[in-house]
Amino acid sequence: MEEVISKKRIFSGIQPTNTPTLGNYLGALINWVKLQDDYECTYSIVDLHSITVRQDPAKLKKQILESYSLLLAMGVDPEKSTAFVQSHNCQHAELAWILSCYTQFGELSRMTQFKDKSAKHPENINAGLFTYPVLMAADILLYQADLVPVGQDQKQHLELSRDIAVRFNNIYGDVFKVPDPYIPKTAAKIASLQDPTKKMSKSDENPNASISVLDDRDTIIRKFKRAVTDSDTVVKYAEGKDGINNLMSIYSAVTGKTYEEIEKEFDGKGYGDFKLAVGEATADRLAPIQAEYARLAADKKYIEECMKLGAEKAFKTTRKTLQKVYKKVGFIVI
Ligand code: TRP
Repeated sequence: MEEVISKKRIFSGIQPTNTPTLGNYLGALINWVKLQDDYECTYSIVDLHSITVRQDPAKLKKQILESYSLLLAMGVDPEKSTAFVQSHNCQHAELAWILSCYTQFGELSRMTQFKDKSAKHPENINAGLFTYPVLMAADILLYQADLVPVGQDQKQHLELSRDIAVRFNNIYGDVFKVPDPYIPKTAAKIASLQDPTKKMSKSDENPNASISVLDDRDTIIRKFKRAVTDSDTVVKYAEGKDGINNLMSIYSAVTGKTYEEIEKEFDGKGYGDFKLAVGEATADRLAPIQAEYARLAADKKYIEECMKLGAEKAFKTTRKTLQKVYKKVGFIVI
């Protein structure tokens, strides 16, 4: 008899603010694509989260479409996985309200992202910015996710999601799966090209600091040529050579070569040759994604169909969880 083993569930989300960087791609999104083979994956463009910081509506709309299309262009399969826009499933906001009644003011006050963001936007410290982690907990818990791929900066939020799940389960019985962080074995950590001690960020004010996955070939090569390195001349992975180390990890990630192979390849050559090679290899790696993105961007109808399919699949999955929660807290489910 054939044994049916259900796959573990994965949930992750990405904000539609700005185009993903090479760092987002190599550090996270590339894994989202790979995980589809072994897990039941749900990926969300978290537009509800993005309005905790003031957005221009026309730009936001464009960015949601772009982010969603890019996910597909990178290889997220809308049939095999669930790829949806968060605001298309109203149950996220509904569960977030309920969970907010099981989350303490003190817990939310301790979130470092809240502290950082409110220091950065002192004119708009809104309640959504404060309860942001509750919405994130709702995202994850609604899907009964086993694993959540997140970067270092989201670990505290995931920890809080776990605390909320455990607290709720302690009161009402087994309602939520308590999610674990998913840390890939080989996640590339990509730094800024201008300050290699800092993470590559899509919100960096210096446009030369980050590569967008939609940058054209010339722009990519130009940015790599300007990358900050050191006064040494040998292409070698070593302590204190943050700039070169970063370029090596990018080159390794886009070509699959090991550090040893890279050191050999550039033995006797200078930084100039190396930077050019990293630029070219990165451009080559992104070219097929960009071509597929261009094709999808011209087919709005298809993208809309995928969004609808994703929203329906998402809604169907989360309805079970939300109804259970409603019953547990004493609401009348009709
Ligand atoms: N807060 C995450 C970020 O900014 C995005 C996000 C929202 C998320 N909901 C999520 C990530 C659920 C993982 C799981 O990167």
